[in-house]
Parts: sequence; structure tokens; C-alpha cells
Amino acid sequence: MLTISTIVDLRAGLRSETAIAFVPTMGNLHEGHLDLARLARENGKCVVVSIFVNPLQFGPNEDFNIYPRTLEADCEKLQGLADVVFIPSVNEIYPENQAVFVEPPPISNELDGASRPGHFRGMATVVLKLLSIVQPQVGVFGKKDFQQLHIIRQMVTQFNLPVRIVGGETVRAADGLAQSSRNQNLNANERSEAVYLYQTLQEMRQVILQGERDFERLQQQAVEKLASRGWQVDYVAVRNQTNLLQASSGQHELVVLAAARLGNTRLIDNLEISLPD
Ligand code: PAJ
Repeated sequence: MLTISTIVDLRAGLRSETAIAFVPTMGNLHEGHLDLARLARENGKCVVVSIFVNPLQFGPNEDFNIYPRTLEADCEKLQGLADVVFIPSVNEIYPENQAVFVEPPPISNELDGASRPGHFRGMATVVLKLLSIVQPQVGVFGKKDFQQLHIIRQMVTQFNLPVRIVGGETVRAADGLAQSSRNQNLNANERSEAVYLYQTLQEMRQVILQGERDFERLQQQAVEKLASRGWQVDYVAVRNQTNLLQASSGQHELVVLAAARLGNTRLIDNLEISLPD
């Protein structure tokens, strides 16, 4: 496994590769990331993983400075899974003040974008940069960040980028909590409560499968229940899986998404729902 920190070295190292599968990450790797690396292996001959905590996608009051940086442990975990780990500095990616940005689609102002203004603009900008630096044939992203994956797919389609996007399933802890770098910020009480977010989504899926179509009411009930247990809820939403717009009762491919804070830790999760015709 090669560890590379500059764009020049990366381009030289990848020159003769014709089937690169690329997994961008911000490090502090867990099973979710490693699973994407395995999925990358199934989709390409050369697996490249990047580790870059992107300042552009964090708001001024967000956790950029305290985002866990665990490079040594990350590289150990990637042994045997990745061929190349790309770990650029902030200066390597942004050698001058970035003045050109990806303007993400309107859906970027809803759901996660509503509580994190500018987040998707910063995310899409760095993903475009990383894709043009690595030039992979395949890009692998997690469904855990469903809205992010949706925006990336749209960007790739509408900018005609020559890359195939593959979505990986969400990897969960034994109790169902989605793996996340932020889980380690939960104290013991919060950790045992955290699974309730996933349970809420599961319950919503269950009642929708049983025929409930009053999504507004379902959302409201879920928000109230979470709030009564001490969560600060950003959103619980039933959306159309394909375009992430409000779901209506005739649609079959849905996704229920939620984001809520326990103490200082913000957790997100989602669950796809396919209704029979
Ligand atoms: P990060 O949060 O490190 O996530 C890197 C990739 O891992 C993303 O595609 C994310 O969806 C996926 N992932 C996270 N948790 C997962 C889980 N439990 N199961 C499966 N996949 C999971 O997402 C980012 O970084 C950044 O926004 C990035 C795309 C790298 C741009 O900076």
C-alpha cells in the first residue's frame, strides 16, 4: 500500500492504472468506510482511498477543529484493502483561496442543508476536485449520507464526469446504530439512547408498509417522540427516493431520513422503503 500526499506523486503513481475505484473519506475510519473500500475492490483493480478533512464543508460553528484525526490507525486499517492512500494537506487541495465553487442543486438547502448552510457546496466542490485529481473510473460513496450521494450523482451526471458512482449500504453496530466517526463523542447514556434514531426510522417504515400515507403526521409524531426523549431534532422526513422531494401517497420508492442531536453530537440516518405495486 502506497501512502501519497501530493497531487504530482499521485498522478505519477496512478498513470498506468485503467480501473481505479476511489473512496473519498475524512478519515477516522470505521467499518462503514472499510466496507466501501471492499466494495471498491469489487468494482476496480486499483483501490484509492483519500483522507482529507475538508474545511470548506464545515460551518463556522461546526466541528472542523475537533474532527478526529487518526491517520496512523487509519492507514493500518486500510492495509490489505487499499492500494493507494492519498492524504493531502489543506494547502495541497487549496493552494490559493478557492474562488470557484460547485453550486449544488436546490435540494441542498433542505434536510441536512437546512441546518448546515454551505455544507453541500463545500462537499460538492471538494468531491469534484478529488475526482479530477484521482480520475477514477468508479467513485464509491455510502448511502449513510443519502442526500450527499444524491447530490454527487446529480453533479456527476450534469457535469458529464466520466465516472460511475456506486452506493454502499450503511454499516451498523450490533444494536443498529449507523457507524459514524461522531459516535465516539457520545457518552455511555447517549450511546445507549442513540439507537432510538434508527428504531424510529424502522417504526416509520413499518407503518408505511402497513398502509399509512399521512407522512406529515408520521413525521410530526416521530419528532415529538424523539424530543420527549431528550433529542434536539433537525428533521424527520419521508421523501421520494429518486429526487428527495416530498413524498406523495402514490409513490413506491421512498426514503425516510432523520437528523437529530444528542447532547453535542449530531447523528443522521435513513432507511429506504420500497412499496409493492
Ligand atoms: P466521511 O464522513 O468520512 O465518509 C466517507 C464515506 O463513507 C462517505 O461516502 C459516507 O457516506 C461513507 N460512510 C460513512 N458512514 C458509513 C456507514 N456507517 N456505512 C457505510 N458508509 C458510510 O462523507 C464524507 O466523509 C465527506 O463528505 C466526503 C465525501 C469525503 C467529502 O469530503
